[in-house]
Parts: sequence; structure tokens; C-alpha cells
Amino acid sequence: MSNLGRLLGYLKPYRARVVLAVFLMLLVTASALPMPRITQYLLDVVLPQRSQSRLLGVFWAIVGLYAFRGVASFLLNYLLGWLGQRIVFDLRFQSYRHLNRLSLSYYDKRQTGKIMARVIDDINVIQYMITGGFVTLITDILTLIVVMPVVVWMQWQLAVMALVIVPTYVVVYKLFLKRIRALSVELREKWDALIGALQEKIAGITVVKAFHREGYEVDRFMTTVQDNYTLGMSQAKLNRLLGLIVTVVSAGGTGLIYWYGAILVLHRQLQAGELIAFVGYIGYLYGPALRLVDFNIQAQWAGAAIDRVFETLDTRPDIMDAPNAVALASLRGEVRFRNVSFGYDPSKPVLHDINLEVKAGELIAIVGPSGSGKTTLVNLIARFYDVTEGEVLIDGLDVRSIRLESIRRQIGYVSQESLLFSVTLRENIAYGFHDATDTQIIEAARNADLHSYIADLPDGYDTKIGEDGVKLSVGQKQRLAIARATLTNPRILILDDATSALDSETEAHVQAALDRVMEGRTNFVIAHRLSTIVNADRIVVIDAGRIVDVGTHAELVARPGVYKNLYDEQFRSAQDEALAAYLG
Ligand SMILES: Nc1ncnc2c1ncn2[C@@H]1O[C@H](COP(=O)(O)OP(=O)(O)OP(=O)(O)O)[C@@H](O)[C@H]1O
Ligand SMILES: [Mg+2]
Repeated sequence: MSNLGRLLGYLKPYRARVVLAVFLMLLVTASALPMPRITQYLLDVVLPQRSQSRLLGVFWAIVGLYAFRGVASFLLNYLLGWLGQRIVFDLRFQSYRHLNRLSLSYYDKRQTGKIMARVIDDINVIQYMITGGFVTLITDILTLIVVMPVVVWMQWQLAVMALVIVPTYVVVYKLFLKRIRALSVELREKWDALIGALQEKIAGITVVKAFHREGYEVDRFMTTVQDNYTLGMSQAKLNRLLGLIVTVVSAGGTGLIYWYGAILVLHRQLQAGELIAFVGYIGYLYGPALRLVDFNIQAQWAGAAIDRVFETLDTRPDIMDAPNAVALASLRGEVRFRNVSFGYDPSKPVLHDINLEVKAGELIAIVGPSGSGKTTLVNLIARFYDVTEGEVLIDGLDVRSIRLESIRRQIGYVSQESLLFSVTLRENIAYGFHDATDTQIIEAARNADLHSYIADLPDGYDTKIGEDGVKLSVGQKQRLAIARATLTNPRILILDDATSALDSETEAHVQAALDRVMEGRTNFVIAHRLSTIVNADRIVVIDAGRIVDVGTHAELVARPGVYKNLYDEQFRSAQDEALAAYLG
């Protein structure tokens, strides 16, 4: 209910139009009122008098009335359509802006499809309710307010008779309402599950095909569709049943009025035309009752949708600027971990008591087994997550006291899984620095050993990626991600396994370029292939969330430990390869 009020708050900026809409609603409502009276006039006056001229009057009155009603309805619906679209526009814009503000932890816990369902479906439902049901409801209420006194004034005994069915109606309605509401909530959840599953399985179609699970997935999807169907049908049945009962109850009311009204007519206390007019007005009273059933379904859906949209809007990002956060126009690039512990779920720590001091301009390599916490460690520098204990400092300041924008703008990040958008290659490379000149973009691509590939494409840098464009290989994507990160000229460069998909020769090219690009910045390089990190100033060895060793390559291979084991293993396999090549 409070959320409904909040939704109406979105109409505030369009106050004038809302007032106009209400005025038009009044006109539309009012235009329906004379009709039963005209019928009465026709039956009680025009027909007994056999007056041709009055009949013509009735004809023009009806045509005029409906023409007026038509124009008013047209304007009203146009205005409501506009208001509905406008609210949807505002809600969608706000939701998307807010989703962009939410931290990664929000996305970790939710299926993409379910998030999408909120921005698309829920807001559609709200629009539908605003332009459809909601307006009908208001017009109906207006009609009730106006018609009630009219019928009481016309014939109060008949009016009382018409109202005896109201308690029955209320009881039946209450009985059904609870079931319908429960079904709506359940249906909404199943619908979410359907969208969630659909998005996930389409995104993962390669896995589905590789494991030949198409049949299984279709069956599973069918189950979800079936669930939706079954629930939808129970809801529809319940709804129609309620509609049936309401129709019968109101038919009973109408029957009673005809019966008692006819007696009144026989006793000459009422004229036939008056009775017909009365029944006409009663139709205006019972009509809303019938429509309330349909509105109810809509309102249940919309209520759930409104709640969910506002729930998203009310979710506070975990990571936000502190009120007194400082902006740092240019970072020196010193990074320090002080007694840092972190867990995605605070009760399950992934990193334990990390202490590491990195001077500006240093090249730090991070190695360790898969799942040891390397990505997690570097994610704390860009403050994608906040530490559970201790602090991460950049230039001596806790990252939580620096403006996020200052940090992120000056960190170049190549994540473990490179992601491209469905835009041109140029736009993808310049994603973090859209004012980049062509020369800068080409240089960045050169450094990533990607320029010659792009230059050979018919459309060059204007080649579109994705749906209607080219697809890049994993290695090409990695190189594009490197170009994108280095183009922003960051103070701190983080490469998370950025060259893992490159062949030795390409890697050597990229490495040479990276060595140049890394000059003058603080660099964190995560790599599984040790050949890429032998030149690091320091190598940090991580195992099970702890730093187990720090040193240069020479120092680390000289002593037994995780690093030496890794080195021996890779060295041995490299030797084996060489041997195999030699033996042919
Ligand atoms: N978003 C997340 N939510 C919850 N747990 C996570 C998340 N990301 C990683 N983890 C967990 O944290 C631990 C460390 O993961 P992390 O990605 O840092 O490992 P890694 O050292 O980068 O491994 P790899 O070499 O395979 O990339 C793992 O046990 C993983 O299950
Ligand atoms: Mg990783």
C-alpha cells in the first residue's frame, strides 16, 4: 500500500496532466449518466405522445452524447498512455542507473535473468496497471459516487433492494481474494524462475550442446513452463469462478429490482420508463463490481511488481563513497595491504591476514594454485569488495576514504574473463577512455599485438563485434582487453591471467609490449605461466588465502616451497615438450 503511494509520487512532476486526466475522467463518467434518463424520456414521454420532433431530439441527443464521450475518452486514453509511458521511462531509467551503482556482491547472489525480469517485466506490469486497471478503478469509483445518490433519489426502496446483494458479494470476494493473492505471488516466482533459467541456458548453450543435454534442458524448461501454465490456469479458473458467482449474485439483484419494480409499476407508483432507467443505473453500480474481479488480478500482479521494483531501488550498494571521501586527481600508485582478511561471505574467509607493501612503480607478480585467492586479492585494490578485517591503502589512504571514481579511473584492469560489448572494435578498445584519438587507439592495439589483425579486417576498427559482427577468439579478446586497459593510461595496472590464452610467440610479443606499457606504473600481474613473471620485482606466492612467500624469482627458486614446486613442474613439462619435439 505504501509502495503504491510511492508509485503515485512518480506522477508528481506531471501534476497538470494528472489534473487534466482526472477532469477528463469526470467528463467520461458524466457522459454516461444521461443515457438511462434519455431511455426513460423516450419510453414515458416521446412514445406516448408519438412526437416525431421529440424523437429527432432524442436521436441527436444520443449521437451528441456518444460523440462527446468518444472525444473525451480519446483524449483521456491518450493522456493516460503518455503518463504510463512516462512513469515506465522514469522507473526503468532509475532502476538501470541503480543497478549500475550496486556492488558486485549484489550480482554474485542473483541470476542475471531474474534481475532482467525486474527491469523489463515488472515495470511492464506496472505500466499496464496504470494505463488499464487503475483508471477503470477510478472511473468506477467516480461512477459509484455519482450514481448512488441518483438511484436513492429516484426510488429509495428499489435502491435498498439493489444493495441487499452487497454483503453476499463482499463475503464471496473475501473468500476468493486470499487464494488469488497467494497464487499470484507463486506465479510471479515461477515466472522469475523461467526467465532466470532461460537466460542462463541460452548464455551457456555451448555447455548444453557439448554435453548433449539439449533434451534434458528442454524437459526441464517444459517443467517450468508447465508450472506456470498450471498456476496460471488455477488462477484463471478461480477468477472466472468468482466472476460467475458475482454475475449470478448481481443477476439476482437485477431480478429482484424487475420483480419489485414491476409491482410498483402495476400499482402506478412508478412509470415503466423509470424502471428501465433505474435498471440502467443499477448496471452502472454492478458493472464496477464485476470489473473489480479483473482489476483484482491485475492489482495482485502489479502489487508484487511494485514491491520488487522498489526493493531493487532500495537496495543499498555495499560499496559506496563515504560522505567525506577524498578525490585524488592523480595517484602515486603505492598499494598496501595491512592485516587484511576477506571472505565473500564474512563467515567463510578466503584471504587471511594479508600484509603486503607495494611501492609506486613496482611490478608485483602473484602466483599460487587455482582457487588460492589471487583474483580475490587484486579485486580488493579496485575496491570491488570491502575487506572484512584490516585495510587496503592506496597512497597511504584507506581505499574506503577515497572516492571510488578516483580509484577506478586510475586502475587499468584486465579481468580473467575478458568481456566485449556488441559495439565496434574501436568502441570496445576506447571503452574506458572514449575521447581517445585514433593514434592512441592504434598504439594500444599495437601494444597488445592486435593491430595487424584489425587492420586486415574489411571494416578495420569499425568492425562490429557480436550478434551482427565478428566473433573474436579467446586470445584476441584477451589482447583487446589489454589494449582497453592500457589505453586509459592507468597508475595501477592489474592483469589477471591476461596472457593465459596466448601462444608462446604472441605472448612474447605482448609481453615485450607490456614491459614497455608497465613502465612507470604499479603493476600486479597474476600468471600461471612462470615464464611471464620472472622479471617481476617481487613475486608473491599465495596458498589457501595466505601469503606464504615473497621474493624475486632467483630467491624463490633457490629455496624449497610452493614456488619451487611450481617452477620444477613447469620446467619439467617444458623439458618433456622439448624432448618430445626432438624425438619427433
Ligand atoms: N564471487 C564469489 N563469491 C563467493 N566466493 C567466491 C567468489 N569468487 C571466488 N570465490 C571463492 O574464493 C576463493 C578464491 O577464489 P579466487 O578467484 O580468488 O581464486 P584464484 O586464486 O584467482 O584462482 P584461479 O587461479 O583459478 O583464478 C575460491 O575458493 C572461490 O570459490
Ligand atoms: Mg583468478
